[in-house]
Amino acid sequence: MDAALDRLLPPADQEPRTLHEAVRYSVFAGGKRFRPALVLASAQACGLDADTVLPVACAVEAVHTYSLIHDDLPSMDNADWRRGRPTCHVRYGEAIAILAGDALHDMAFQWIAAASDRLGPPDRVLRVVLDLAAALGTQGMVGGQVLDLLAERGQLPADWVPEIHRRKTGCLIRACARVGPLLSGREEDLPRLTAYGEHLGLAFQITDDVLDVVGESEKLGKRAGADEASSKATYPKVFGLERSRQMAREEAEAAVAALRPLGPRGELLAELARFVVERER
Ligand code: IPE
Ligand code: IPE
Ligand code: MG
Ligand code: MG
Ligand code: MG
Repeated sequence: MDAALDRLLPPADQEPRTLHEAVRYSVFAGGKRFRPALVLASAQACGLDADTVLPVACAVEAVHTYSLIHDDLPSMDNADWRRGRPTCHVRYGEAIAILAGDALHDMAFQWIAAASDRLGPPDRVLRVVLDLAAALGTQGMVGGQVLDLLAERGQLPADWVPEIHRRKTGCLIRACARVGPLLSGREEDLPRLTAYGEHLGLAFQITDDVLDVVGESEKLGKRAGADEASSKATYPKVFGLERSRQMAREEAEAAVAALRPLGPRGELLAELARFVVERER
């Protein structure tokens, strides 16, 4: 993933240098690369070659990194630590951090369009683009981030928490899971991987909330305890810690159950679902 991202990102010494340095600073700070792994596993499950979908895997990591850079801004979660480093805006200033996020968002779609000949027939590539754009938009990640901020300010009832999580984190993960069926044209797998992705996305954010309570900053690469300090609407806050853990496990199990019709083709995807709830970072 890192080699592929390095090939696609503008070199750090290209002008405007500070922008390209900031982009690379955040992308190469580490990170689990969970979403690209999901894209590759979804592709593999549908009989596609990993190399073929690499530009899509890079694109989802780019938009994810953009979402993290903006999520950390002082006007949002006001976080000073990410992926084991000072956050982008702490290191490069707010204006460059905003623009680095913007640039990553643009590049993601540029990379998919530039690779479209190799990705597959134009109508299938277009469906991936549509899916990704919708996952990021007002009914997806961006809308979810707005709900997250409203809830933090006490302007949204607590029973919205599952919906916040589905949108701010779940939608992008769902889109990653759908890449294989969309690009391969295996329509029968689309509802299966859609259900898988929805359960997985919720499991992912519930676990993120749980780790904010029980995890170690050192391991997480970001500050633990930040959610309580900022009065975030989280699963542990609404349902308690043990119930939240249980709910994350149930979501991961439901994700795996949705893969059953795939048989052995779904093994890697099932492993990723187990990783989501067992992870310590
Ligand atoms: C953190 O995502 C933000 C959420 C949507 C929960 P990750 O836990 O995947 O962060 P990285 O990519 O590993 O840094
Ligand atoms: C992030 O949720 C969701 C995004 C769309 C980035 P969080 O705010 O809980 O993510 P962390 O804990 O800062 O990584
Ligand atoms: Mg946030
Ligand atoms: Mg945050
Ligand atoms: Mg969090």
